[in-house]
Amino acid sequence: MEDKAERVALSDDELAIRIGSKKSAMEDLCRKGEVQRIPTGHTHLYLSFRRQNKTGMVTAITIVGTTVALLVALFFWYLRSYASNHSRRPNNLPRVPEVPGVPLFGNLLQLKEKKPYMTFTKWAETYGPIYSIRTGSTSMVVVSSNEIAKEAFVTRFQSISTRKLSNALKVLTADKTMVAMSDYDDFHKTVKRHILTSVLGPNAQKKHRVHRDIMMENMSNQLHAFIKNAHEQEEVDLRKIFQSELFGLAMRQTMGKDVESLYVEDLKTTMNRDEIFRVLVVDPMMGSIEVDWRDFFPYLKWIPNKKFENTIQQMYIRREAVMKALIKEHKRRIASGEKLNSYIDYLLSEAQTLTDLQLIMSLWEPIIETSDTTMVTTEWAMYELAKNPKIQDRLFREIQNVCGSDKITEEHLSQLRYISAIFHETLRRHSPVPIIPLRHVHEDTVLGGYHVPAGTELAVNIYGCNMERNMWENPNEWNPERFMEDNETIDFHRTMAFGGGKRMCAGSLQAMLISCVSIGRMVQEFEWKLKDKAQEDINTIGLTTQMLRPLRAIIKPRD
Ligand code: HEM
Repeated sequence: MEDKAERVALSDDELAIRIGSKKSAMEDLCRKGEVQRIPTGHTHLYLSFRRQNKTGMVTAITIVGTTVALLVALFFWYLRSYASNHSRRPNNLPRVPEVPGVPLFGNLLQLKEKKPYMTFTKWAETYGPIYSIRTGSTSMVVVSSNEIAKEAFVTRFQSISTRKLSNALKVLTADKTMVAMSDYDDFHKTVKRHILTSVLGPNAQKKHRVHRDIMMENMSNQLHAFIKNAHEQEEVDLRKIFQSELFGLAMRQTMGKDVESLYVEDLKTTMNRDEIFRVLVVDPMMGSIEVDWRDFFPYLKWIPNKKFENTIQQMYIRREAVMKALIKEHKRRIASGEKLNSYIDYLLSEAQTLTDLQLIMSLWEPIIETSDTTMVTTEWAMYELAKNPKIQDRLFREIQNVCGSDKITEEHLSQLRYISAIFHETLRRHSPVPIIPLRHVHEDTVLGGYHVPAGTELAVNIYGCNMERNMWENPNEWNPERFMEDNETIDFHRTMAFGGGKRMCAGSLQAMLISCVSIGRMVQEFEWKLKDKAQEDINTIGLTTQMLRPLRAIIKPRD
């Protein structure tokens, strides 16, 4: 036994396990809040889950207790494995192959890598396109093949239509009060109908065209203004400009107007636009990947995890306060007779049965969804174009042939096949949503010829589907040519980037229109170059595959 509970030096990738430290030393750490005590009968189990970076699933875990704790855990693990191996399978189909893990934690410790979708894809090479893992006490089936993903989305939809949310997402989505995160129930169907009718469906998108045109002009003006003031070789930060413009578009579609500042009564403060953007978009995106160790051990949910709870609760409270202030301001506008083509105007007149919370969440949903994935896709596309001058030239020539001296618009898109190929290849190679928000198997089902029992979580690894070697030649290569091979229009489902079946992305049309016209306009007006090799670093961060460092490129106006 050690006299002192030795604190283990942890690097980003290190995992530390300590067994057998003295109880008094652990109690000391417990008082300091560094570990938590979990009563387990005669033994003492202390857990410390530390997040060292925002993206890791679990980067450091320290366990201290007596060896008896491990034996007890092993016993329960053995019982559980025995029960699952000997339980009856009604269809006599084989079980999904398992990735070997360790008792108690299952495969959790192997997932400390910053990008679980990459680990999942690596495992698929050994265990096949469908396998199962254990994350703590839950069993998860991982699918990394287009064919089986389609089976899950379409044929077996009835058994896999609900969502499994992490503790962070439960709070941030107000317990599934959003189209994208709800179960497939009456609420989902009603609110999806509203969002399609007023914001995202083809007719609604026609009505919001004016907002997209404003966005394109603003973006172009800002890039030209940058050139005027930039010194030679100064790089533009595209993300800063594009993200801000997308947020403006989201506000115009949702609330009727962009926002400059806002008095937030509940917080007794006035916020500027950047602060509003942080509260509505940046913080919830980061919050959604916060790890609560109780996600993996639901039977320990009675143990408080105060730091995590406070962080997420604060995000929720601040977002609610800002949304309430925005709604109040726009209710006043509408009452004064100023009606606008916006989601809030629509919901207040057509969806009066929504509760206050449902109204807040319904309006927040298109704001956060508009502001992230489209930016991620467009930034990756511009990175690839800046890195591949020949492809950029070919695109520029295509635009010149089709548009002549006119500015590219949405009407030109049907003739600009190469832009579409670039958009789809970027979705394939950089899968903005690399893993579909987890689904919950709520009744026994079959996938890929295997029995999948009720209670399993399902992770569709879109990144893995898009890297399948038997489907894509040299999958690591970004090569828009692969979408130019046949003469038909490009199939939206080929990359699986937008999911599929009844829960396929409702915003794919908007994302395609904004991303394609922006890419076209930026290449039509400027030549894009990377300054140095440092840009080859393509690490990602976040729930979506945002570039770790924003793209920085040198831009030169075309003659
Ligand atoms: C390139 C950009 C985008 C990508 C790659 C993307 C991807 C996805 C994916 C993978 C899903 C989950 C499908 C499933 O669970 O099976 C989804 C759902 C959804 N997305 Fe997107 N999305 C994008 C842009 C947008 C935009 C701009 C909006 C709205 C402004 C949006 C709104 C939604 C909604 C409402 C759902 C839920 C649909 C449902 O559950 O019925 N998405 N998206």
